[in-house]
Amino acid sequence: MTMSENNSPFQRGLLPQGTEAADRAMALLADGQLVALPTETVYGLAADATQDKSVAGIFQAKGRPSFNPLICHVDSTTMARSLAHFDARADHLTKHFWPGGLTLVLPRNSKAPISELSTAGLDTVALRCPDSSFTRSIINRLQRPIAAPSANPSGLLSPTRAADVRSAFSIEAVPLVVDGGPCPVGLESTIVACNPGAPLILLRPGAVTREQLEAVLEGEPIEDHETNANDQITPVAPGMLTSHYAPRAQVRLVLDEVPAIKTNDAILTFAGRILPGQTAATTSLDLSASGDCMEAAANLFSMLRQLDAQQPDTIHVVPPPRQGLGVAIYDRLQRASAPRNNDARD
Ligand code: TXA
Ligand code: MG
Repeated sequence: MTMSENNSPFQRGLLPQGTEAADRAMALLADGQLVALPTETVYGLAADATQDKSVAGIFQAKGRPSFNPLICHVDSTTMARSLAHFDARADHLTKHFWPGGLTLVLPRNSKAPISELSTAGLDTVALRCPDSSFTRSIINRLQRPIAAPSANPSGLLSPTRAADVRSAFSIEAVPLVVDGGPCPVGLESTIVACNPGAPLILLRPGAVTREQLEAVLEGEPIEDHETNANDQITPVAPGMLTSHYAPRAQVRLVLDEVPAIKTNDAILTFAGRILPGQTAATTSLDLSASGDCMEAAANLFSMLRQLDAQQPDTIHVVPPPRQGLGVAIYDRLQRASAPRNNDARD
């Protein structure tokens, strides 16, 4: 083997999306191995959802508690319908939001060949049809759903760039990362539970806003998870793990009180806000100087990651207003700033 072959992108476990990446990804997935794939929300750590052993590889690589079920990604509503029960509301929502950043938790078809590990033994399954045509074509060629949580070690920041994924996992654990460029949305999908005869429940705020859902639901109610009386029982939805999406530094939200900024602190601000005590030397980034929540969502994880790389003690974050996508951004920031609990991470 020549030097250049040795240094070829595949040797380094990273390929741009395209024919070679597709062929390699197919071969690895069919063989039960893991591949990181691009989606419009965040990068996913993918495995064949029908093979227990492959799905176990995801939990192992992420260091993820196995009670937490995974999203199964499909190429179409046709594949989705073979796996779960769709009522009229599920039909309606998928017509409007698929492919895209909406995951539906639906009653699982008992004959669906999905690994029990993937659904954590629940009788429901979380389904999403991603917007990346590359990733959909892989699922289509495989003719099987792909289980894919965000491609980050459990409890850490979700990855929005291929390089973030590549640096987090060994080649042995994840032989291939497919580079589809930066994720355009940058926040995980919104998760809605849709059980026949029960109100829709918003389990996790995300890429699709409540306002967007309401605009197509024509008065059909959608409850927030917190207001649901059955709260205590699993399924543990993503958001329910209190400490989540966290960088290594402490994260503090700047709310009413102005924080005391120390020399080794960093600031993640919004819309150009300057904090009292901030000096020219303070490491700082702005989620969106113009105050745009879409831009802030796309920057959130990569900017937290950039600041974390400077090894600050604390990252002070000025959250965007809690409207539209700002709700999901605030949710992620709250989790990043929660006390850390190693038992319950995603
Ligand atoms: O945007 C996304 O959703 C990304 C990309 C890769 O598609 N995926 C993602 O997956 O964020 P993950 O596994 O990190 O988060 C999925 C969450 C889990 O935390 C889990 O609690 C919830 O979905 N979930 C999965 N199946 C469920 C079920 N049957 N009932 C309730 N919640 C479920
Ligand atoms: Mg995740």
